[in-house]
Amino acid sequence: MKPQHESYLSVGGMIEMNTNPVTSFIRMNLLAGIDLHCPLLQAAIALLVIGFLTVISLLKFYAYITCGRCNSDRKMKGKTVIVTGATGGIGKETAKDLAARGARVILACRNTDYGNQIKDYGNQIKDEFVKETQNENIVVKKLDLSSQKSIREFAKDINQTESRLDVLIHNAGTAELRSKTTEDGLELTMATNHFGPFLLTHLLIDLLKRSAPSRIVVVASALYRFASVNLNKLNPVDSFCPGYIYYVSKYVNIYFTEELARRLEEQGCQTSVYAAVSEEIEGVTGKYFIDCKEGTLSNAARDMAKAKKVWEVSEKLVNLQPDDPKI
Ligand SMILES: NC(=O)c1ccc[n+]([C@@H]2O[C@H](COP(=O)([O-])OP(=O)(O)OC[C@H]3O[C@@H](n4cnc5c(N)ncnc54)[C@H](OP(=O)(O)O)[C@@H]3O)[C@@H](O)[C@H]2O)c1
Repeated sequence: MKPQHESYLSVGGMIEMNTNPVTSFIRMNLLAGIDLHCPLLQAAIALLVIGFLTVISLLKFYAYITCGRCNSDRKMKGKTVIVTGATGGIGKETAKDLAARGARVILACRNTDYGNQIKDYGNQIKDEFVKETQNENIVVKKLDLSSQKSIREFAKDINQTESRLDVLIHNAGTAELRSKTTEDGLELTMATNHFGPFLLTHLLIDLLKRSAPSRIVVVASALYRFASVNLNKLNPVDSFCPGYIYYVSKYVNIYFTEELARRLEEQGCQTSVYAAVSEEIEGVTGKYFIDCKEGTLSNAARDMAKAKKVWEVSEKLVNLQPDDPKI
């Protein structure tokens, strides 16, 4: 007669029982301690599961309250943003968030070969974004930050096709573990993480300035603390420890951002200084200057009747007194 079978779940897999008296006796004894019908065992398992879930929830809550969160619900409609390295990781999530806020998002991606099949990661991700964010205004452009030729081509394309650029996010990054030198003679990690963003910022700065108030975001890392910057080795092509260069590059990201801010602030004051001291505009009044040159105003801004009205309303609002000086 065919023996009857029953199954018991044990830790680690399924154990079969049959009714043959000898083997059943041995197996019954083996399983005696892990009978899932035992209420004590069931309570212990339930406690374990609840304990595990509580620990996970506490960890998630800790991460939630200690990790910074952008709580702004600001929309980005009408703004154009470039995110470098948007094919994965932080860049992809950043681009997705900005797309969901309505921005025109330019995904600056290098293409990746997958075996014989060349896959355009960027275009795959574009479809994913459009589906998830309902925002059709997503553009994929090729950019390899380790190649100055690619950076120049990308910047030329952006300058020719985009009327504005509100945010440039330097996100792409790499940490090469083997020493590699680019076609431009630069160490690969430094080329991608610093020299590339440095060149790209220069090539897009006019567009960014024309779109003011615009922003440049550089994604650095707290790991910079493990490095120091040797000015004699800013291009460490012959480094014995290529992995360490990532930390250095993140340190250089911080120096770059500090100096960029200082230079832009200094440039920002130049038109005011020009208007205040330049001999060229001696006797010139009521003109509008931009980048130390006379600029053109829109028709609406040249409405003198409106200018007169603004003056008169202001007089009232600042409570000008009859004995105050008159202009
Ligand atoms: N993850 C962290 O814990 C962490 C912490 C602090 C700071 N960061 C910084 O955050 C940024 C993003 O990090 P992640 O962890 O999200 O990195 P990731 O997942 O490795 O993604 C890096 C991105 O950069 C792109 N990229 C690499 N080399 C490139 C090149 N030559 N030209 C253009 N794109 C290139 C990659 O494109 P492919 O798809 O073509 O490879 C990818 O899209 C980096 O700057 C990193 O230093 C990360």
